[in-house]
Amino acid sequence: MGAVTRGTTNPNRLRRVDNWIAATCGDLLRDAADPLVVDLGYGASPVTVVELRARLAAAVRPDVRVVGLEIDPVRVAAAVPAADPPGLTFGRGGFELAGLRPVLVRAFNVLRQYAEPEVVPAWRIMTGALRPGGVLVEGTCDELGRLAGWLLVDASGPRSLTLAARLGTLDSPAVLAERLPKALIHHNVPGTRVHALIQALEEGWRAAAPYATFGPRQRWRRSVETVRAAGWPVLDRPARWRLGEVTVAWSAVAPPGATGPGAP
Ligand SMILES: C[S@@+](CC[C@H](N)C(=O)[O-])C[C@H]1O[C@@H](n2cnc3c(N)ncnc32)[C@H](O)[C@@H]1O
Repeated sequence: MGAVTRGTTNPNRLRRVDNWIAATCGDLLRDAADPLVVDLGYGASPVTVVELRARLAAAVRPDVRVVGLEIDPVRVAAAVPAADPPGLTFGRGGFELAGLRPVLVRAFNVLRQYAEPEVVPAWRIMTGALRPGGVLVEGTCDELGRLAGWLLVDASGPRSLTLAARLGTLDSPAVLAERLPKALIHHNVPGTRVHALIQALEEGWRAAAPYATFGPRQRWRRSVETVRAAGWPVLDRPARWRLGEVTVAWSAVAPPGATGPGAP
């Protein structure tokens, strides 16, 4: 289920989300009888699937099985030489996940190319194919993976939004608005929760300017502390902040009428 879209990808582009998956979903994979992960929509080259497998095998468990699924048969054929079964295989499939029952799905830079009304139905199809307790990580990044935004989605809907940036080149958190997941990007206008979040980060970043002397990590950490002190439900801890991340509860940013726990 789905449509062939542009196949743009790049080596190492998804490192931020991969590392977050290993840290945040590692226990889910460790506890799984069959640690099956699907990377949906890997694009013109399978490189990001190869990297996901390597990262999970090193950081979570060596017997992880990653299956790259693509809706475009030409891209499946191009990926097959990179397979390393049983840990890394490729196949043709769409949102229905080709009949697989993974514990985790990563779908990056896929829904960005769909219309917004298609997002929730796509989530439902993908999460409906997961093993009980399984999760979908769905988001977007820029070409080189310096800016990214993703949602953790389970069978009940989205749980959290994570924003991540390469702090060494970050001028202002406002640029993260360009990489919001599809479900939020069109809602980033004054008066919405997601707009208020980006503004809060921006204000925190400005107020933390003196900390720039100690490096951009200190400045980001300070900005996130300010956002949290203002009442935003920040779910992650300083160890993640120092990587240029912040994760908030979906309920804090959900657009009106959105799906998911705690959505207004
Ligand atoms: C921009 S590429 C993303 C590549 C890679 N995930 C990345 O982030 O670098 C999007 C890919 O998703 C594929 N795609 C789009 N809809 C899909 C679907 N429903 N199921 C599987 N693949 C899909 C497209 O054919 C395209 O190759």
